[in-house]
Amino acid sequence: MTIIDGKQVSSDLKQELKKSVEACRQQVNAVPGLTVIIVGEDPASQVYVRNKAKSCKEIGMNSTVIELPEETSQEELLAKIKALNNDPEVHGILVQQPLPGHIDEYAVTMAISPSKDVDGFHPENVGQLVLGNLDKCFVSCTPYGILELLSRYSIETKGKHCVVIGRSNIVGKPMANLMFQKLKETNSTVTVCHSATQNMPELTRQADILIAAIGRANLITRDMVKPGAVVIDVGMNRVEDASRKSGYRLTGDVDYEHVSEIASAITPVPGGVGPMTIAMLLKNTLQSFMRAHSIQAS
Ligand code: GUN
Repeated sequence: MTIIDGKQVSSDLKQELKKSVEACRQQVNAVPGLTVIIVGEDPASQVYVRNKAKSCKEIGMNSTVIELPEETSQEELLAKIKALNNDPEVHGILVQQPLPGHIDEYAVTMAISPSKDVDGFHPENVGQLVLGNLDKCFVSCTPYGILELLSRYSIETKGKHCVVIGRSNIVGKPMANLMFQKLKETNSTVTVCHSATQNMPELTRQADILIAAIGRANLITRDMVKPGAVVIDVGMNRVEDASRKSGYRLTGDVDYEHVSEIASAITPVPGGVGPMTIAMLLKNTLQSFMRAHSIQAS
């Protein structure tokens, strides 16, 4: 059984990106820049944003964090985004979600230039993904990170049955769409399960590759998994744990202890899919820079 080590892959990828950033600097005397906007003071979001900025710096990219107060109006936020769209030193714009209730997330997504939408949330990027034009879009970071893991662990996907559990715009929908594209890392047959799916265990047991992204702790039990399957766990659920100082621990959507006994490969939580998300955000930002400067990938 292989434990898919996202922490290691993410670290390797960041080292590769660091070299590419340096090569860009030598070639055009500029480096990619990511601007992250956070509205309000959600503590979890503040940690995520800090980590994104730190990772940018580690690989030599520029990073700016714009902290706006909770009461920022939608108009003010949209005006800020418009200014960033027009700033040639900004290659990636990310507005951290969730946003305060009075701001329309859809309007914010639509305001970001598709060419700087390194989250891959804009309908133009989603549409290009569905068309299979990955060279013309940004792919949402978590599904993109999962493709990278499948590829680096040489997991056979062609013609395999991939079952995706969850249909969120950020993970489930792009993941399912990627998996049936005719790409080197994909080319699978795909089934999507969600909260209204009947006989879910019957479907999950058919999966050669099972991707759980539904946000329910330990939903996927051993009896729902075919022996030898590859299991990818996107879940990040907080469950109470009195033995921890924080009072909780993080658990995936998969019952890791028992499923790992029969899977051929599995991602742990934490340390599996999670660390890949930031690495792919950096990769998207580099990609945006290279497109802006007409630099071909070597
Ligand atoms: N909040 C939690 N994850 C994400 C993400 O990937 N992108 C944005 N914009 N907000 C988030």
